[in-house]
Parts: sequence; structure tokens; C-alpha cells
Amino acid sequence: MTIKNHIVMMGPPGSGKGTQAQILQARLGIPTYSVGEMLRRVSAEDTELGRKVKALIDKGSLVPDEVSSEIVAHTMKTRDVHEKGFILDGFPRSLGQAEALTRILEEEGLSLDVVLLLEVPDNFIEERIIGRYACARCGSMYHGKFNPPKAGDACDVCGGKEFVRRADDNLETVQKRLEIYRAVTMPVIPYYEEKGLLVSVDGSGPINVVSEKIKKVVGG
Ligand code: AP5
Repeated sequence: MTIKNHIVMMGPPGSGKGTQAQILQARLGIPTYSVGEMLRRVSAEDTELGRKVKALIDKGSLVPDEVSSEIVAHTMKTRDVHEKGFILDGFPRSLGQAEALTRILEEEGLSLDVVLLLEVPDNFIEERIIGRYACARCGSMYHGKFNPPKAGDACDVCGGKEFVRRADDNLETVQKRLEIYRAVTMPVIPYYEEKGLLVSVDGSGPINVVSEKIKKVVGG
């Protein structure tokens, strides 16, 4: 089976998009682009755009389509993407973004191999998000109950001992992010179903079980 290396990763907040993208990247060397992460970098800048993006992310709203689409358009021009493919985590999140991605890929002479939809029931999501933290140094992601670092107090990847939580990982914001997912992002699902690209994966089991399911779809 040929490896699928032009991948979009969709799913509600906390469904495991970032976790599974990191695992795929480590296994197959496909570069991962988390649009949420790229926007958090923009939000840390002391500029008008940075402040605007920060306010939207902190309250769980989407940033305007033009901002995220521009970041993706820029990313899709890079040599790495053209040589190694991509895992796009968290984009598109609206029909406008899906249409923008189709245009961007056409302009670059690229096309999607698969859109992976991680499906996880709502009652799993709060626990996953509230328990999440990341290494302050390298960004590796953990969960207090489901995925703690093996050494307990140090990052498995870089040995860092400082961990951080995201400002938008609180109960109120999670509810808002879920509402937006249902209202704005779920309409993207039929867009990719019609193109024959959508594959749903049950994301409710343990991390390694979900990875095995993804492996069967992506190959390698
Ligand atoms: P983003 O950072 O993309 O957040 P999200 O979509 O809400 O997704 P999360 O990162 O919360 O969850 P995930 O699915 O990656 O799960 P994870 O693997 O971490 O976006 C943040 C914000 O940026 C948005 O709200 C918006 O404001 C803005 N934004 C981003 N993209 C945008 C766009 N395209 N347009 C406009 N605005 C945009 O897993 C969660 C936890 O669960 C972890 O602790 C993990 O260890 C654990 N876990 C993972 N899998 C399992 C499992 N199978 N079993 C048990 N635990 C698990």
C-alpha cells in the first residue's frame, strides 16, 4: 500500500488530532502543521494582529478565515511540503477554509490523499482537555491520567522539567469550542465525503489503539 502523506486531520477539540499527528510524524517523517499552534505563535506577538488573535483563541472563537488561510497558503509553498508531504492538524475548520484549501493545493500542484476524522463522544472531551499539559521546552504533549511522561517529572523527549497548560483549556472555553465545532466545522465533513476523501476513525480508545487504526488507513 502506498503511504498517504497528504493528510488533513479533523475532529472535535481534544479528540487527539495533535497526539496522532505527532505519532504519524515520528513514524513516517511526514511534517505536521498544527494551525492552532501556528496561531498561538502569532498570538504571542506584541502586534495588533497578535492581540486580536490572542483574544479570539482565549475565548474559544475561531480566528478569521483569511488569517488561517494565509498561514496555510504560506506553509504549502515550502520545500518540505513539496518533498515530504504534510499533516494539516486543525485546518480546515469551516467551509470557507475547505474551499480555500482546495484552491491553495491546486495552485501548488498538490492534492489531498485523505481526510482523517477522529470521532470521540462529547463526554470524553472535557476530561482529555482539562488533564492536558505540554513540555514548556519542546511542546511534547501529555495527559495527567492517560499519557503522563514515563519518568513522571521530566519530558520523555527532551528531559525538560517545566510544563505548561493552555489558556483556552478550561471548562467554559471547551464548551464554546465544541459549539463552534458542531456549527461551523461539522459542515466540512460532507464536503470531503462527496470528494471521496473522508475516513472516520473511532478516537475513543487508548492512544496506541487509535494509532493502529490510523496506520491501517495511512499505510507504512
Ligand atoms: P487547536 O490548538 O487546534 O485546538 P483544538 O482543535 O481545540 O484541538 P486540541 O488541540 O484542543 O485537541 P486535539 O484534538 O489536538 O487533542 P490532543 O491530541 O491535544 O486550536 C486552538 C484554537 O486556535 C481554536 O480554538 C481557534 O481559536 C484557533 N484555531 C485553530 N485552527 C483554526 C482554524 N483553522 N481557523 C480558525 N481558528 C483556528 O489530545 C488532548 C488530550 O487528550 C492530550 O492531553 C492527550 O494526551 C490526550 N489524548 C489524546 N488521545 C487520547 C486517547 N486516545 N485516549 C486518552 N487520552 C488521549
